[in-house]
Amino acid sequence: MLYSIIVSAGLETIAREELSQRFGDTGHLKILERKPQRLLFQYKGNPRELLALRTAEHLFCVLKRVPKMTRSRSSLAALSGSLSRFNFKEVFECCKQVGIGVRKRVPFRVTSRLSGKRNFRRADLQRVTEQALVKRGWYLSPGGSALDVWAEVHGDDGYISIKLSKNDMAQRPYKQAHIPASLKPTLAYSMVRLSRPHPKDVFLDAMCGAGTILLERALINRYHYLIGGDVSTDALDATRTNFGRQHQPRQFFHWDARNLPIQPNTVDKIVSNLPFGETVGNVPQLTNLYRRCLKEYARVLKPRGRMVLLTSQHTFLDDELRQLRFLKVGKQLTVDVRGKQAWIYVIHFA
Ligand SMILES: C[S@@+](CC[C@H](N)C(=O)[O-])C[C@H]1O[C@@H](n2cnc3c(N)ncnc32)[C@H](O)[C@@H]1O
Repeated sequence: MLYSIIVSAGLETIAREELSQRFGDTGHLKILERKPQRLLFQYKGNPRELLALRTAEHLFCVLKRVPKMTRSRSSLAALSGSLSRFNFKEVFECCKQVGIGVRKRVPFRVTSRLSGKRNFRRADLQRVTEQALVKRGWYLSPGGSALDVWAEVHGDDGYISIKLSKNDMAQRPYKQAHIPASLKPTLAYSMVRLSRPHPKDVFLDAMCGAGTILLERALINRYHYLIGGDVSTDALDATRTNFGRQHQPRQFFHWDARNLPIQPNTVDKIVSNLPFGETVGNVPQLTNLYRRCLKEYARVLKPRGRMVLLTSQHTFLDDELRQLRFLKVGKQLTVDVRGKQAWIYVIHFA
């Protein structure tokens, strides 16, 4: 069966690594393509297992993929026409495996997505898909039990898929308390992966907010110790609520990350998203914060340790890194944070 997952922009490579790592050994997985914000793959196992992917926002089973879509209306007809003789048996089986019941007369609704210049509109894409499925005996229904069909045209590719995941696939049950600038768990998980988690890690997020990064680390595999801190007591309360009694040993501190009460060379991994934006402070304040935090992180990090830092104000970080020549950027990724560009830096000692 052909599947696709949708991921946040910039996380495609990490999602691919996650897929391979989790399912590569089973012999059931064949990754076909990596597209912007999408991975296409064949999987012979139970699709329920795919719902556990931590980088994915949505999971689909792909009914039809039509390559060579052009801007003309004829390619639209080719996409919807591909459904006229499609055998839905395997797809319905797949739906059942993830708990989506399929009735004899199938209720459905269509969501359409379109990018690039086309001689047809999104509404046309939706209409022709609906018509093609009604011809197959399905009926349009807005109800909750309706199959969620997605018709999409991006670049040269057209897809007709059924959404297997619920809207909360990318949410995490631990996230009970929130703070305004809290990270998406999928992004926090990806940052943690970039730190190369190891069971002996002493792991630090010195600006932990609601604790998303620390919790994603706790859930990935064993660790030696988790340390979190924040200058805001509200944020720390949110972290404590989200942790509950689980995930020991760990310790949370009310502190200023510019002055950490931690011995030098004691931390293996630091993963943090640095504050950014005007709400946090003006340019001199932010420059000062970045400079002093970076020096402090370098002080507490072990010689073979790693920092993974996220910021949308990369010029500040670049300026500071130019001064601190003993630090080296091993990898830099551009990602999307709430519709804005941001950068993940993977930093180690030169
Ligand atoms: C972008 S938020 C972190 C969000 C967090 N990763 C999450 O997912 O909830 C940045 C955090 O840095 C904290 N912060 C700002 N300046 C700080 C400082 N000097 N020392 C420690 N924490 C600080 C803020 O209180 C805020 O909680």
